[in-house]
Amino acid sequence: MTMLTPDTTSHTTKQPASIVQGPRADGQSPVLRCRKITKRFGGLVAVDQVDFDVYPGETVALLGDNGAGKSTLIQMIAGVYRPDGGVIELDDQAVDIRSPLHARDLGIETVFQDLALCDNLGASENIFLGREIPGKAYGMLPGLNEAKMRAEAKAVLSELHINIRNLDAPVRTLSGGQRQATAIARAVYWKARLMIMDEPTAALGVPEQKKVLSLIETLKQRGVPVIVISHNMQDVFEVADRLFIMRRGRAVADLRAADTDANEVVRLMVG
Ligand SMILES: Nc1ncnc2c1ncn2[C@@H]1O[C@H](COP(=O)(O)OP(=O)(O)OP(=O)(O)O)[C@@H](O)[C@H]1O
Ligand SMILES: [Mg+2]
Repeated sequence: MTMLTPDTTSHTTKQPASIVQGPRADGQSPVLRCRKITKRFGGLVAVDQVDFDVYPGETVALLGDNGAGKSTLIQMIAGVYRPDGGVIELDDQAVDIRSPLHARDLGIETVFQDLALCDNLGASENIFLGREIPGKAYGMLPGLNEAKMRAEAKAVLSELHINIRNLDAPVRTLSGGQRQATAIARAVYWKARLMIMDEPTAALGVPEQKKVLSLIETLKQRGVPVIVISHNMQDVFEVADRLFIMRRGRAVADLRAADTDANEVVRLMVG
């Protein structure tokens, strides 16, 4: 056995080769294409030459044990970390995603493990954060069109059957599920090209979990591809079309949900 990654301190066992995904049978090209994407933290290779594609309208579950590199991978796609190597393409165009705001401008909406909303702002303001509708204050000064933003926020939330009584209440006063729902409403309203969710149901009660899962389904129906990280196998099999499994920074399997089951997935996760 040859050591392919001599700079790696943590990867001492033999791993399967990285998975190269080709064009799909129906000829569609991926919305997101990552090639040999790599991120190191000091001597640790958190994400090691991973190839990862997401196609239009599919929900992909990103799976792996704690520390497998899932959050690090999506944080490169979300502009939090710059990759140390590899290429990210959106709709066949190589992109250098400079910041989370830049990712949003590119149409990548992310719900992080520790959520990406502004706690002190209301649901409506969060939906329009960074993309406010201009208007006139006191009928003359340049300002924001608060009424229009509130009406639009109300419309998208009600369309998604999301119940938030006071759109101006700071989102920190909302439930976990309402906060997730606000982030999803933002993605729907702005027609995100890709939605990323890191453990969206982990901190939620059962009814709220169901709501988030049904919102993921709604995103799919609207053609928004979703990457979802979850440790909950039941959720995974409920929403995912495809399962992408990582182990110690490497991609180890890329399976259609219909072709596998929880036992096999766990086996692949732990190696
Ligand atoms: N900012 C950082 N600095 C140093 N090491 C980091 C940093 N972020 C992550 N790591 C390390 O990189 C590896 C991958 O971490 P990551 O958070 O991507 O895992 P994960 O698959 O999301 O795990 P979990 O399921 O527990 O959320 C881990 O070994 C972790 O300790
Ligand atoms: Mg994580």
